[in-house]
Formats: sequence, C-alpha cells, structure tokens
Amino acid sequence: MNVIYAIDVDFMSFESSSTIESVLHEQRVFSPSLDESNKCRISGLNSYQKMVDEAQVDPIKFWGDAARKELHWFEPFTNVLNWNNPPFAKWFEGGKTNISFNCLDRHLKTSNADKCALIWEGEPGDVRRFTYKELHSEVCKTANALKSLGIKKGDLVALYMPMVPEAAIAMLACARIGAPHSVVFGGFSSEALRDRLIDGDAVAVITADGGFRKDKEVSLKPAVDAALAGNSCPNVKSVLVVQRTKADIEMQSGRDYWWEDVVTPQSSDCDPEYMDSEDRLFVLYTSGSTGKPKGVVHTTAGYNLWAHLTFQWIFDIRSDDIYWCTADVGWITGHSYIVYGPLSNGATTVMYEGVPRPSNPGAFWELIQKHNISIFYTAPTAIRAFMKMGRAIPDEFDLTSLRLLGTVGEPINPEAWMWYRDVIGREQCPIVDTWWQTETGGVMISPLPGATPTKPGSATLPLPGIEADVVDSDGLSVPANEGGYLVVKRPWPGMMRTVHGNEKRFRESYWEFLRPKDGSYIYFAGDGARRDTDGYFWVMGRVDDVINVSGHRLGTMEIESALVSHDAVSEAAVVGRPDSVKGEGIVAFVTLESGRASTEELQTDLINHVSSEIGPIARPDEINFSEALPKTRSGKIMRRILRDLAAGADVKGDTSTLEDRSVLDKLRN
Ligand code: WT7
Repeated sequence: MNVIYAIDVDFMSFESSSTIESVLHEQRVFSPSLDESNKCRISGLNSYQKMVDEAQVDPIKFWGDAARKELHWFEPFTNVLNWNNPPFAKWFEGGKTNISFNCLDRHLKTSNADKCALIWEGEPGDVRRFTYKELHSEVCKTANALKSLGIKKGDLVALYMPMVPEAAIAMLACARIGAPHSVVFGGFSSEALRDRLIDGDAVAVITADGGFRKDKEVSLKPAVDAALAGNSCPNVKSVLVVQRTKADIEMQSGRDYWWEDVVTPQSSDCDPEYMDSEDRLFVLYTSGSTGKPKGVVHTTAGYNLWAHLTFQWIFDIRSDDIYWCTADVGWITGHSYIVYGPLSNGATTVMYEGVPRPSNPGAFWELIQKHNISIFYTAPTAIRAFMKMGRAIPDEFDLTSLRLLGTVGEPINPEAWMWYRDVIGREQCPIVDTWWQTETGGVMISPLPGATPTKPGSATLPLPGIEADVVDSDGLSVPANEGGYLVVKRPWPGMMRTVHGNEKRFRESYWEFLRPKDGSYIYFAGDGARRDTDGYFWVMGRVDDVINVSGHRLGTMEIESALVSHDAVSEAAVVGRPDSVKGEGIVAFVTLESGRASTEELQTDLINHVSSEIGPIARPDEINFSEALPKTRSGKIMRRILRDLAAGADVKGDTSTLEDRSVLDKLRN
C-alpha cells in the first residue's frame, strides 16, 4: 500500500488506558427532561431523527433550504454542492454573501441592534461591552483602517493577539473587506509566527504590545519584530498595534501603526465586500503527523452556515442567553464559537482574557456569577484541573444562571463528566460533549440538549447531515463496540477546502488514507473511535503521531524537529503519556551528539529550547537521554514502544521488527 504518512496506528495503547477502561463499562444514561425538551428547537429524539432522515434522503434540499433560511445573500446561489472533483468541494456556487454582514448588519434592522453582542472581561477585571450597533461601528472603522493601509480583498492578514475585543473586531473587519485572516495563537513563539507568516504570504500583522496572563504581562509585539527581522517576511508591509499593557515597545516608522491612530479616526460606515461563497475566509494552522503545521483553509458561505447552524442546534440559543466559551480566538473553537457562530445568531458572547490561576482559582465561577452566564463551554482539561482543586471553590459561587454545559477538545473521562454535571451543573444542566476539529469547521458529533440522552464520556450521535462512521483500514464499517477509524462519509458545508498551498497534502492526509473499494472518498479524521449498540460514538483519541496536551494539538514530529535543531541533540523521539489533568503530557527521548554530557542543565536547556522554537505549550514534561532509539530495520522510530515506556507500562505488542533488541534494555534503564 502506498503509505504516504507514517501513521503509527496502535489501538492497544488506547484500549489499555484507564480512561478507556472506565468508558468501556459506562452504563449511565441521562435523558433530557420533558420540560427541557419542550423548550428546545429540536425537541425529542424523533425530531432529531426526522432531520437526519431528511438530510440523508435529499442532502441538496436540506443544505440548500438551510442556507437560504439562515444566511443573508447579496445574490442567491445557483448550485448547492459541486462534488464533481472530490475531495475538492464547492458549496453554494454562484452565491454572494459576507460573514461580517451576517454577524452584524442583519441584526441592526431587528431588536438586536441594541442588544449586547460582546461582553469582554480583562484579566485585571476591566470590562467592556459592545452592542451589535457598537460592534458594527468598530468593525467598519477597522475595515476602513485596513483599507487605508493598502490591504485589499484577497490579501492575507495575520493576527497575533491577546484575548481583547480588538481580536474579534479585527477578524470581522478582515472578513468585511474580503481579506482572509490567519490567527496565530498568542502563545506561539516568534519562530512559529514567522513560519506561518511566510507560508500564508501575509501582507500585514495585527498585534498588541502585550496581554495579561496569570497575573503577568506577556509581550507580543517584540515577537512580531523578531519574526519579521532580517527581512524574513518581505511581503509584510504593515503592523497594526493595539495598546493593551502600555509596555515600552519599539515602533518601526513606515511599518508599525498604533490602532488608536489609524482606526479611531475612520468612518463607521464600510460597505461589506460581496464575497463569492467559495472565497477564502481564513487560514488556520494546525499540527499533523508530519512536517510543519498545515494551513487549514475555510471558505465564506459553507463555514458561515456550519458555524451558525451548529451553534444554534447544539446550544439551542435563546434571546436572553449569555454564552461563554473559554477558548482562545487563536484556535478554531474561538473562531467558530466565540466569534462567528454566536454573532451570526445574534447571541451575547463573553470573552475572557485570563485563565484560572493560583491567585484566583475561582475566576471562572466568579465570572459566571457576575455576568449571569447561562451557557458555559470549556475543555475537559480545565474540568479535571477544577476537580483537583476541590468543589469548595465553585461552591462559593452562585452558578444557578447556568442552564447548559459543553466540553470540547479531547475525550472527557466519565469521572470528570459526572463532576461537571453534579458540581457545576447542580444536576440540572444537560452536557454537550462536542467532537470536531479545526478541519471540520464546526461540531460534527454532539448531543442536542432537548433531544439526545447522554452517556458520560460519549459525544453521542452525529449532527443531521453528518454521516460519521467507524471503519477498518479497508474503509468498511466495523461491528458495534469494536475500535476503528473515525470517518465522515459525505461532504458537509463546513469542511476544510484544502491545505493552503498544498493540495497533495490535503488529499493524502485526509481523503486518500482510506480508500474504499467502490472508489468513494471518505474523510479520515485521525481519531480512533468505537460505536456502541445504540450507535453512540466513543472517541478514543488520535491514532496518528499527534498528541493532545490540554486540548492543544501538537505534532510529535514538530517537537522532535525543535529538539534536533539544538546543537547537542543527535536524534529525538517524542510521545504522549497519559496525564490526569492535561490528558497527555510530552515525553522526549533524546540521543546526544558525541562528547555532550547528559546533565540536568542540558535537560532544562532543551525544554526551554522547545519552548522558544514552538511556544510554551510544547514544553516537554520529561527529557530522557538514551544511547539509542528503538527503530525498525527500515529506520522508522517505533514510538509505540516509547509510549509504553513513557507511561511506565510493559512494552506490549510485537517487538520483532526492532533492528536492535538490546535498545529496549538500555531504554528501560
Ligand atoms: C482533535 C482536534 C475541536 C476544537 C478543539 C480542538 C480531539 C476534539 C473532542 C471530543 C474526543 C476530541 C480529537 C480531534 N477532540 N473534541 N469531544 N472528544 N476528542 O481542535 O486542535 O483541531 O483538534 O481534538 O482528537 O481530532 P483541534
């Protein structure tokens, strides 16, 4: 078989983890109450099933009707789906729309005009609120400012921002003038930023002097300066800087502009660009099994529809809801469920600059109480961290405003799910465990609060129109309760369109890894899963060389490249190891150049090196020096063995393909 990427599949390692053990024996079911169900748009399993059937029988009608009903079109589309050249899909061809219009302008003609669109809370406690009218005006000014800097439709603009309202405003302003955005998480290093600026051909960067995180000031603008140094990104002509921390930073004349100077004087009218449905809306980088992170491309109309519909279905959003998603806008969750999904629906979305920290472990609960938050969406890693701190902390706060809880980013273990339900939800709030990815644009598998009985640890059932399945390596469905690959068998509006600048990689990593005999194209997500006899999905985690640390996705190869770029390192292999809070921790095995001593200082030095190459989220938890690494005769590192060793478990499975068996003993020592 033409194996393109070395996907090191090993279900054993998933089945043996304690999470999976408890999941396999999970029997509890929680059904929506009749009262709750009656209040919801999609009420009861029958109405869900009816939608599933409609979408199954006539997907073109299903998606076409939804797009006409839910979005505003400057010009109607003429074709719902073009799948003549798979895996390249075109949705809503011929249509013209603009997501900033859908998120802002269309609400101005309704009673939503003076409704609060965005509540922002800074880490030091400063609060800013924007009505839809005010947000519209800020976005228009910013759009005009971008134009005044010479930015045109089609130009890619990078954002490297703290969690301030200007981040959301800048995204919407880019969308308004048709300039695709590429948001780079503010925790990434200048190296990582530079790679993304170059790969995406960015013409401008929007940033801030810095931001506040864990009671500290973190700087951002100096990292932008470092990324641009030495003319490494000649296409970047301007840098727009928000003042947040008032840190003393350097401004390069002719290139750097203060937001205050350029945006504030602009007119608050700016006609939205009429965008083709398939015009690029954004590029967002994510890690894969090999090489550098890939730029996932999403386009205008399909993404808009998917963020809009999924937000409406899953959170069953109501006019008086105050909704808070704790993600950072640097990730897809922030794109779809802080900015585009909520605003497209006319909801009130909360944005928080900080994270819970030792000086304020109740920060999240305080915010829920203070802003009367009714829907709360966070990551399992956060829930596990709260569990560890004990219920006394959340118990100090009044959380009765909550009516719905969500999780995203990694599998949630039943214990954490139950704690979330009992302690945060007072046994009153449905929990939606939402499975999806950067690539899928929005949620794919999730309970609907008024319809789906939930089981702790299961993302339950696919959304209407999503044909998800668990298959073997021939692309054939596996029987109930057996492990396999999680796939999606039909195109959907929010699907990624390509990898920026690399169609081959798009094809090979997602659509050609599994090729059923009938020649159809199925989307391979990179996750292992099983379905139970009720058809419920239990996502087990990645089956490729991608690890999930606190809900952040990292490629082991990226960390390995960072390690070998250090002059003391000859070879490196990185694996994940189960971690009770972070989901996975990062363990590195390193062989040194001859003459280099395996000292503690070097360990620290290597950890810091990875942090400066990629960012603090990629810091290894542990560095092991080893004389050699376990390899097959063809020279491939057997990460499976290292995973077992890192977890402190016995090495399972076949080791006969090892080139040198003695390596195992050396490693054990
Ligand atoms: C990977 C995608 C989706 C936004 C945040 C992460 C894992 C995500 C779940 C879930 C089990 C999950 C998968 C997936 N994942 N949600 N509810 N249950 N696993 O986006 O960085 O693109 O990562 O996160 O492994 O492939 P991402």
